Amino acid sequence: MRAELEIDACVVNGENAADGIGITPRLADQLLAVGADVITLGNHAFRRTEIGPYLDQSDRIVRPANTARTTPGRGLTVVPTANGRRLAVINVLGSLFLHPATSMFELVDELVEEARRATPLVLVDAHAEATSEKAALARWLDGRVTAVVGTHTHVQTSDACLLPRGTAFITDAGMTGPHDSVIGVEADLAIQRMRTGLPVRFATAQGGVRIEGALIECDPDSGRASSIEAVRVSVP
Ligand SMILES: [Fe+2]
Repeated sequence: MRAELEIDACVVNGENAADGIGITPRLADQLLAVGADVITLGNHAFRRTEIGPYLDQSDRIVRPANTARTTPGRGLTVVPTANGRRLAVINVLGSLFLHPATSMFELVDELVEEARRATPLVLVDAHAEATSEKAALARWLDGRVTAVVGTHTHVQTSDACLLPRGTAFITDAGMTGPHDSVIGVEADLAIQRMRTGLPVRFATAQGGVRIEGALIECDPDSGRASSIEAVRVSVP
């Protein structure tokens, strides 16, 4: 898809890469090897503790910026793109159900300023449960970042749009994974847990695999977005 769509930079949310929860150094290396430039994370960033030293060492992976100060890694990175530019990527966590150490609104302005000192191309992965938090963040950052892309719900939204001052936005980019499932989990197991209220060991489903995401075009000098479209491709 990188070649076919002439992608200059690819950002992948990888917080569910390790069988649905967390990410390991080996899986992060694999995602980067197959074409991701940067991996973002979310509320499951530290579920596989072996990722800690990797987060400290690699500038290709970001965890939410508004986690506790003591957590490893960084919430902002700047990487070169295939067309010789630089892309800043910021990862933040919404408040509803996800319990960040501080609100993303407390620190996002500072992060955006730091990013813009390095490059006009800035992507924010807003990892949040509530659609309203993602919409509010995108409107707040409109004109200051290239795109705000929501993640976490695993369900792609149909609201991809350009905001008035040139920021591209989609509430949720969706899930790359098995859609014949309950957001990636074997449906029977998810139903069993909800019906009985008892702990059930989840397993990743297999069927209906789709690549989902968002394709964003922008002016490389101003960083202003010119288009955004949801990507939804079935994998046979
Ligand atoms: Fe999440």
